Amino acid sequence: MIGYKDYPNVKIFTHPLIQHKISLMRDKNTGTNEFRKLAEEVAMLEGYEALSDLPTKEVEIETPIEKCTTTMIAGRKLALVPILRAGLGMVPGLLSLVPSAKVGHIGLYRNEVTHEPVEYYCKLPNPISERVIVVTDPMLATGGSAVDAITMIKQHGGVYIKFMCIIAAPEGIERLAKAHPDVQIYIGHLDRELNKDAYICPGLGDAGDRIFGTK
Ligand code: PRP
Ligand code: URA
Repeated sequence: MIGYKDYPNVKIFTHPLIQHKISLMRDKNTGTNEFRKLAEEVAMLEGYEALSDLPTKEVEIETPIEKCTTTMIAGRKLALVPILRAGLGMVPGLLSLVPSAKVGHIGLYRNEVTHEPVEYYCKLPNPISERVIVVTDPMLATGGSAVDAITMIKQHGGVYIKFMCIIAAPEGIERLAKAHPDVQIYIGHLDRELNKDAYICPGLGDAGDRIFGTK
């Protein structure tokens, strides 16, 4: 992983498996079924690293051979919070790592003219203040959706927050890292720029449409 400028809270993945799978996702000939599977796999690979600071504790367990002291995850429980719709595509990969995680949902869509997010749904595990929260959205474009989603989570009491995406534009990283410097941001790949419609270039198109086969 590498950093981004002088933002200590931003990490960009360089792992060949993640880069390979993102390249397959970009291909316009990749169909819904495969795209969905790739989004899950990238989320799982990113999650493996993003959760490497989870606190652990030593527990005593009896194996078929003998008693031993061994390591398990301790302390704060996890909450996954996908930003609807496309963030849902990353949830199965993370649940395969932490099946007991609670899942909240935040519904936002971008206004087609202003490109600013509009909220339509918010349901979070309650209480959320003690949980490690992983917000998922494949695309960090202008950053408006991620910034608003995390603001909403904080208003509900969320404190320990990570944000995970598959592709980011420089504009989105700057906006999110400045608005929420306390949030750890994990990025699968940094792309070049946004176009006039605020789509990421080269990007992968509309992530929600590609995951759900709409349009
Ligand atoms: C996409 C994407 C992000 C948002 C990113 O969602 O999944 O939520 O755009 O753009 P931003 O960084 O400029 O806010 P969209 O609004 O298309 O909704 P959808 O997932 O329901 O298709
Ligand atoms: N949302 C998407 O799904 N793709 C982009 O490139 C930008 C926002």
